[in-house]
Amino acid sequence: MTSERPDMSVQLGSLRLRNPVMTASGTFGFGVEYAECVDLERLGAVVIKAVTVEPRIGNRPPRIAETAAGMLNAIGLQNPGVDAVIAEKLPELASYDVPIIANLAGESVAEYVQLAERLTACGYVAALELNISCPNVSHGMMFSSSPELTGELVAAVRRVTDLPLITKLSPNVTDIVPMAVAAVEAGSDALSLINTLLGMSIDVARRRPMVGNITAGLSGPAIKPVALRCVWQVYEAVQVPLIGMGGIMDSHDALQFIMAGASAVAVGTASFVNPAASVEIIGGLEQYCCDHDLCGIGSLVGVAHS
Ligand SMILES: Cc1cc2nc3c(=O)[nH]c(=O)nc-3n(C[C@H](O)[C@H](O)[C@H](O)COP(=O)(O)O)c2cc1C
Repeated sequence: MTSERPDMSVQLGSLRLRNPVMTASGTFGFGVEYAECVDLERLGAVVIKAVTVEPRIGNRPPRIAETAAGMLNAIGLQNPGVDAVIAEKLPELASYDVPIIANLAGESVAEYVQLAERLTACGYVAALELNISCPNVSHGMMFSSSPELTGELVAAVRRVTDLPLITKLSPNVTDIVPMAVAAVEAGSDALSLINTLLGMSIDVARRRPMVGNITAGLSGPAIKPVALRCVWQVYEAVQVPLIGMGGIMDSHDALQFIMAGASAVAVGTASFVNPAASVEIIGGLEQYCCDHDLCGIGSLVGVAHS
């Protein structure tokens, strides 16, 4: 075993992370809610809940339901709106030494551009993640279902920000690769794969859909094979770093994503089961590198393809 500590840092465009593990948007609030039980400064980055131009109260309840190997959610992008996020949420999170990645959700190109301008100018944010893949609002997957619209949106946002730009893609498409290629050609520095899969559940006692929105996004271990397949396919098609997510519960899962081609990973549903899951996964990845005499985590990215 090597006595040197492995280099866990990763590069996403111009953004360097101390390690490859971040939180998945919408599963970690605005970060500070978790500060009592998680050392935020251990994380590679905190990805905050989706931000919209106007405040949103979200969908009608019930908004979540448990499934055999995961959960359904239809939160509906509840958030206080970009003004309040910048004034009330980001300053506190920025007092921690951890990069903040903002997740943006708009209903039009103009709204995404407005969000990108505001969040770039505020100075708290290290990168922007374009959420073009939310299955729980009427317009949520419009952009991620078309390479043309994906490209148009990314190009428009690219023109107004120098921050690293990450595009978050949807698995709810026939072929994810053309969307990935379009996002990269339009200037995306990295891609997040994947958002939730569209699903539903029926409450037999009430004879009604379990979730108020009827359909909802499936996450957790149930979607891991789908997410891994998406990362695998996109890795073979583009040259930018990928952030893999979907059912990562422990460091073994995270390693699978890295070996499939992810440079970084995001932990979502696992944080509801164990708030410290993300930090434990960092420890597990470091231990794997030590056990296998690796000088850095980077040497594992995409190894399963060779
Ligand atoms: C309750 C909940 C809320 C979510 N909210 C957002 C969101 O606001 N923006 C976004 O891009 N993804 C959102 N997601 C999707 C996650 O970021 C992630 O892509 C997905 O859950 C897959 O990862 P997981 O299986 O580890 O949870 C949400 C997921 C859950 C479970």
